[in-house]
Amino acid sequence: MKTLLCYFSGTGNTKKVVDKFAKCYNDGEIEVVKIENNNIDMSMEGYDVLGIAYPIHAFNAPSIVVDFVKKIKKQAEKKKLFIIKTSGEPLALNNISSYKIRALLKKRNFVLTNEYHIVMPYNMIFRHTDEMAYRMWQTAEKIIPIYQKEIVDGKSSKLKHIFMGGFIAWLFRIEFWGGRFNGKKYKVNDKCIHCKKCARMCPVGNIEIDENGKFHFGNKCIMCMRCSFHCPTNAIKIGWFEKWKVWGAYHFQKPTEPEENRHKRYCKNSYKKYFARCEKKIKENEI
Ligand SMILES: Cc1cc2nc3c(=O)[nH]c(=O)nc-3n(C[C@H](O)[C@H](O)[C@H](O)COP(=O)(O)O)c2cc1C
Repeated sequence: MKTLLCYFSGTGNTKKVVDKFAKCYNDGEIEVVKIENNNIDMSMEGYDVLGIAYPIHAFNAPSIVVDFVKKIKKQAEKKKLFIIKTSGEPLALNNISSYKIRALLKKRNFVLTNEYHIVMPYNMIFRHTDEMAYRMWQTAEKIIPIYQKEIVDGKSSKLKHIFMGGFIAWLFRIEFWGGRFNGKKYKVNDKCIHCKKCARMCPVGNIEIDENGKFHFGNKCIMCMRCSFHCPTNAIKIGWFEKWKVWGAYHFQKPTEPEENRHKRYCKNSYKKYFARCEKKIKENEI
């Protein structure tokens, strides 16, 4: 059985999950491919299982992932499919993010067997505390090998279906508006040190810097936040969404100093339920 796992990661969370997941396989059993710059000519030849992993963008899969899936050819024979998504909150509504790519892949003869949602810290909306990010990763590290084993053992696992999910996701497709109109509103302030990291890293080549050092943001932005999140000097303003900007990579270490949590009540119960569900599953699989 050979698996092809294709992933997109804006700021690194999904990549972190994918790296851990891929390590659970033996050598040669999995190939991991990054979806970037639409540069992949996808062929499933030689692979039995397809995995797709992505971060949730406003209850949707990122458009770069949808476009990638559209390029996949119809398979002559049915092939197994699994989906892994990461997001900042464990709300069941996040389940709808895969409906579009699931429908596209079904038409291409893929059969969904497993789908998982792994909660990782927000890269937009607000910054999770280091304590929370640490807890999320501690949980993910233990649950990922269990999910991988389920896939390999042929134990199907799916997420709850949400009524009218496809329509709700369509209403929320933030990238359609955000990318097209807000992307052009990005600005660079005088903290910029002209390292050009943002332009080099942009997964869709939306940032150009002219010979005078002036920045030009195009209308291809997919709102992945990579440029502003990883800017070394926090010099990029992200237009209408500036108040939701999260800046700087999470280190996922246990904090040594107490820190203020400004969002104590935010989705409190759903996080509680998520951790309880994961802990139960981890315990059940301990032996
Ligand atoms: C434009 C945008 C929209 C997002 N929408 C959601 C959302 O609807 N639900 C959610 O739980 N997290 C949402 N998030 C948070 C990310 O899904 C989460 O932080 C993810 O782990 C980031 O993964 P990455 O580092 O691989 O890009 C959003 C992030 C961005 C940038």
